[in-house]
Amino acid sequence: MFVSTRALSNPPSGIRAMFAKAAHYDNVLNLGIGEPDFPTPMNIRESAINALKKGLTKYTPNAGILDLRNALMGKLARENGLKGSGVENIIVTTGACEAITLSLFTVTDPGDEVIVPVPSWSNYIGQVHLAGAKAVPVATFEKDKFHITVEAIKEVLTEKTKVLVINTPSNPTGAVLSKEELIEIGSLAKKYNFMIISDEPYEKFIYGGRDHVSIGSLEGMEGYVLTVNSFSKTYSMTGWRVGYVHGSSDIVSSMVKLQENFSSCVNTPSQYACIDALNGSQDATEKMFESYVVRRNLIVEGLNSLPEISCLWPEGSFYAFPNISRLKKSSEEVAIEWLEKSQVVTVPGTAFGAAGEGFLRLSFAASVEVIEEAIERLKLLL
Ligand SMILES: Cc1ncc(COP(=O)(O)O)c(C=O)c1O
Repeated sequence: MFVSTRALSNPPSGIRAMFAKAAHYDNVLNLGIGEPDFPTPMNIRESAINALKKGLTKYTPNAGILDLRNALMGKLARENGLKGSGVENIIVTTGACEAITLSLFTVTDPGDEVIVPVPSWSNYIGQVHLAGAKAVPVATFEKDKFHITVEAIKEVLTEKTKVLVINTPSNPTGAVLSKEELIEIGSLAKKYNFMIISDEPYEKFIYGGRDHVSIGSLEGMEGYVLTVNSFSKTYSMTGWRVGYVHGSSDIVSSMVKLQENFSSCVNTPSQYACIDALNGSQDATEKMFESYVVRRNLIVEGLNSLPEISCLWPEGSFYAFPNISRLKKSSEEVAIEWLEKSQVVTVPGTAFGAAGEGFLRLSFAASVEVIEEAIERLKLLL
């Protein structure tokens, strides 16, 4: 009776719905979860322990501790080409999740339109809704390797368009936008005067020797881009809940003001650990990437060996997004059937927007054994 219309109308997560179903089965092989299966590297865990031992357990500045923002400034300049920034351009957030919500609260007014490519990480739609803005989905297609096109964006532009969300590498499609594509998208943002929220948590997991490009680093894009990133996937730190946003100082200072109302600050020992994550050895991330290369081969080849299934090679991230439409059932029906008959947990493509119909998402942040066994079980089923 006291639940708000906002809460009642916020869309539920299709991913969580699948996990709730999976909880009723034994011996499940979980390819549903979007989380690295590696432990957080020991140097990072130790640095949190040291912070706790030193009693670093109090509130920090809303924007995050200065040493972490300085370390992020170095990282963003060195790796992402976001040069010429100062700590006033960076805010530390509770994961990329809060980074996106806070960005939307800061740059949109109720009724503003936010273009969201679909299939995409399902939270975007819920986050736009929470901020009181209107999500405008733009479908991407398998024939374009799920890359968003400038033509498709132009079709939905209105005078209310305030933001375009991009996510490269993409969850769930694995699409990685090229520099040329990003230049075109950037020109459009400048011409029609809208912001870009560029969500980049899978930047370290790109296959085939290609480089990650941050749209915020492209010429003339300062002021148009909020670059969002996270420690969750790069350092297998999903539970530590640390992300960050880089953007112009006027927007970031407003985000810092709003942060007080969200969480005041990110938990303190996690922030100290993140300094070591950035400044310490990056070997663990490289090893994770090497494992994803092996697992990607296994899962894509395995899926393509199944009757009526075809799967593009994901360009980045750790998700395979096979086309299951030739099975002549909805993606939800297929996901439920694979769970019920083979105990293989996947996520229906429709959990990522209506344009995901005909596809499933399978995470290959799972062990080689789990992937091999899942393919064997599906071979028996299909
Ligand atoms: C595309 C994308 N953005 C953001 C997030 C949120 O990450 P975090 O754990 O940093 O909140 C996820 C998590 O799965 C994601 O896939």
